[in-house]
Amino acid sequence: MDCSISIRNLIKDFGSTRVLKGLDLNISAGRFVTLLGPSGCGKTTLLRSVAGISDPTSGEIWLGHRRIDGVAPEKRNFGMVFQTYALFPHMSIERNVAFGLEMRRVAKPDIARRVAAALDLVGLGQHARRLPRQLSGGQQQRVALARAIVIEPNVLLFDEPLSNLDAKLRDSLREDLRTLQQKLGITSIYVTHDQTEAMALADEIVVMKDGEIVERGTPVDLYRRPAFRFTAEFLGMTNVIDAEVRAGECRLPWGAVRPVENPDERNVEGIAIRPEDLSIESTDGEADGVIEQSMFMGAATHYWISVGGKTLRSIATGGHTAVLDNGQKVKLTAPPSLHLLRSFQPSPGAVS
Ligand SMILES: Nc1ncnc2c1ncn2[C@@H]1O[C@H](COP(=O)(O)OP(=O)(O)OP(=O)(O)O)[C@@H](O)[C@H]1O
Ligand SMILES: [Mg+2]
Repeated sequence: MDCSISIRNLIKDFGSTRVLKGLDLNISAGRFVTLLGPSGCGKTTLLRSVAGISDPTSGEIWLGHRRIDGVAPEKRNFGMVFQTYALFPHMSIERNVAFGLEMRRVAKPDIARRVAAALDLVGLGQHARRLPRQLSGGQQQRVALARAIVIEPNVLLFDEPLSNLDAKLRDSLREDLRTLQQKLGITSIYVTHDQTEAMALADEIVVMKDGEIVERGTPVDLYRRPAFRFTAEFLGMTNVIDAEVRAGECRLPWGAVRPVENPDERNVEGIAIRPEDLSIESTDGEADGVIEQSMFMGAATHYWISVGGKTLRSIATGGHTAVLDNGQKVKLTAPPSLHLLRSFQPSPGAVS
């Protein structure tokens, strides 16, 4: 069965507010795609439309060759994991996981076998008889995951499943999720507003803003070569610098000149230099800037550097170097080539 997802011109209105403004999105079978965007941009609404728990105002959703936007949610056979675990509190872990299979009238011995396998997969085989309240938050979210995969879903849908967990647990469950998804190869859509999570998990990231898709790409492409300023700033820290661009070259405020990677001059909103690509070296002679502030973060030291009245950020890694003092004069080294950012223009048909 073809488990690709195709979303076509999807529109969702709540009253007079257009929350999804005609989205088009294709997701190949077996891919792990994250929807990333600020609060209120429509991520959950899009996911709920795919799940069938929110009815789109217009547009189409396809699962392979089958149009599903009119199909009842339980008939879509999608597994879902949400921010809250939504386990049945009075049922054992085992029964919670079995529930979906009982609803589907799967034979008893098959249920037992599949539940045991799903619980083993999420590392909870030994806790099958416990009640949800006897498990930690992270373990409860693993149960929710087991419950989603036990039905052998066509698609897995996640809505910020890790956001209620503390940082350590979040990291470990994130790794497990990625490993599991790769092993099972189930098409997955994962909503988050955490850019690190989006990059760590995804084959591809879809960036959303105000009910529209800004751009999509692999984590590396979107991080290194975003088309838009919005993406660059949403996906990690970046310096956006006003700079003169002429004949494919860019002159930086401190005088350095570099070739531009994407030298089309329309709608330019500045150039991007990631802090880790801007290196500094202390000097007693002629300087490009002065250290305003520093923050030692263990694996790296973050610097704020005043350059011609603007503040730029630089990240130095490698624990062997001393942290430079505030007021220290520095020379700057930009990366060998520079990347232009453009402004994202909302589509003309979109009304808010
Ligand atoms: N049932 C509803 N009735 C009216 N407006 C709604 C409803 N559900 C969502 N909205 C509005 O739709 C917009 C998109 O909401 P949505 O929950 O999809 O955002 P989100 O991207 O998931 O945000 P967050 O990151 O905060 O979860 C918001 O402006 C929200 O207020
Ligand atoms: Mg949401």
